This record gives sequence, structure tokens and C-alpha cells, in this order.
Amino acid sequence: MATRTIGKVGVIGCGLMGSGIVELCARRGLDVISFEPTQSASDTGRGRVQRSLDRAVKSEKLTRAEADAALGRVLFTTDLDSFADRELTVEAIVEQEAAKIEVFGRLDKIVTSPDAVLASNTSSIPIMKIAMATARPEYVLGIHFFNPVPVLKLVELVPSLMTAAETEDRARSFAVDQLGKTVVRSKDKAGFIVNSLLIPYILAAVRMLDSGFASAEDIDNGMMLGCAHPLGPLQLADLIGLDTIKAIAEAMYEEFKEPLYSAPPFLLRMVEAGLLGRKSGRGFYEYTR
Ligand code: NAI
Repeated sequence: MATRTIGKVGVIGCGLMGSGIVELCARRGLDVISFEPTQSASDTGRGRVQRSLDRAVKSEKLTRAEADAALGRVLFTTDLDSFADRELTVEAIVEQEAAKIEVFGRLDKIVTSPDAVLASNTSSIPIMKIAMATARPEYVLGIHFFNPVPVLKLVELVPSLMTAAETEDRARSFAVDQLGKTVVRSKDKAGFIVNSLLIPYILAAVRMLDSGFASAEDIDNGMMLGCAHPLGPLQLADLIGLDTIKAIAEAMYEEFKEPLYSAPPFLLRMVEAGLLGRKSGRGFYEYTR
């Protein structure tokens, strides 16, 4: 039997990642509902999507009419009950296990379609922990996008021990056929494939900077010019968000108890100071917004 395509998508959280997922789905012609808990956060999320579409028009990737049509496909709401008819929902809220469990518990009671896919964009939290907050763990899996979502090709698919094969097939076809992504499949272990490799590398760069081994610019230039990386590790940390890096490191440390995953005190101090990277205007570097 052919896999049914997804027409109605829900996205919970419209921050850095949620706004990108909303934009991509809308550009691909899907009917999208975007949820944020407050009106001001919802307005900020809408602004993010709008600005990104405007940039795509400026760089001639989209016409003005296509950008307007994409935005017109999105309903921005603070009412989670409007997710009842969604065929696939992607949760992209803060990287906190308790918050995600709460959202999935609510979503489970709201979504009425019995075979709707409930996905998390978590970077590191084991999917099983999130799936068991619902009465339908066979329909829950990880669909992990990368930032910026409309640009980066990769999606990690993370089925848990309980995910049904049909759910994984539907999510794969959604990512590949409908969104044009390339999929890699990971076991349900904290950090999945990419962050299991990336996070220890970024944390090592933070320790290197903190110990006075080298300057931020030299660490980043070393990896860009010496290893052909498009961004250095500290620039990448600023792009991801230092609060998110900390949360991913903590989830991985909790799972494996490996010192190389433990967040260095310098990173903790920066997060406590609100120096979160690009999103706050300052991290390892300063940004004008
Ligand atoms: P962010 O901090 O930019 O956005 C999170 C959004 O969720 C905010 O707009 C916030 O208002 C909203 N939110 C918080 N609690 C909520 C709740 N209970 N219900 C609904 N909305 C809520 O974070 P970002 O970077 O977009 O990360 C979101 C998720 O995506 C995390 O799980 C993160 O690990 C994952 N991720 C992040 C990547 C990155 O490069 N930053 C890359 C891939 C995945």
C-alpha cells in the first residue's frame, strides 16, 4: 500500500527551529498551524517566518507572490486545541524533558486522527521518554531537522523501540518526498548521530578557549581553514544557541555519564549571564541584529 502523504502539519514552538519548520512546510504547499503559548511569542515567531521569507525573496529564491502564498498557508495560534485535525505534528519547544513530556501529554488528548504522527525535533532527549507521555507510543518518533531548516539537507529519523514501521515510513516519505530532505536513521540514544559527534567537539573548543590555549578567532579559523569546515566550533555554538548546547550536553551526560559530554563551567556561566549566542546578540562573538 502506498504511503499516504501529509497535508495538515502542526508545529509546536516557533523559535529558531520551529519557525524554520513552519516556513519549509508552508513553502512546500502544506497547511500549517504554528503554536506558541503566548500572543507575544506567537507574534515574534510570525515575524521570524516573515523575515526569512523576505530574505528568500531578496535573494531571488522565491517570488513575492510565492512568499505571500506560503505565509498565507500558516495559522499562528495560541490555542493547542486547533491541532485536533493535524496529520503530523512536530514539537520544537525548548530542550527540556519535563516541558516536552507535558506537551506530548496534552497533544495526545487533542489530536483526534488515530494514525496521526507525533514527532519531536529534540536534539538529544531519548524519544522513548517523550513517547511514553502518550497513550500511542507507536505513532511517536524523532524527526530532527538542522538549522537553518530551509537550507540544510539533513533530517535524522529516530524511531523508538515502540515506533510502528508505518509511522517511520510516513515520516520518511514526508521528509524525503514532501520536504526534499535526505534522511539518516539513528538509534534512540541521547544525541543521536550528529550531536553524539558534534557536542563533544564543541565542548572541547569551549574548554580550549577557557584554558587560554588559543583565542576564539584562532580556534575557529583553525577548523575552517585547516579542516574546510564552513563555521568554526565557537561560531557554530553561537548559531545553535549556548542554552541549547548546554541542554543537549546535559541530556547526553545523563544518558552516558561520560566526562566528555559534561558542560564546562565556562559554558554554564555564559548561559547564566544570558550570553546565548546569535539569538541574544552576544555569545563567543557579538552580533548586531
Ligand atoms: P528556541 O529557544 O529558539 O525556541 C523554542 C521556542 O519554544 C520558543 O519560541 C518558546 O517560546 C517556545 N516554547 C517554550 N516552551 C513552550 C511550550 N511549553 N509550548 C510551546 N512552545 C514553547 O529553541 P530552538 O533552538 O528552536 O530549539 C527547539 C528544539 O529544537 C529543541 O528541542 C532543540 O534541541 C532542537 N534543535 C535545535 C537546533 C539548533 O540549532 N538550535 C537544531 C536542531 C534541533
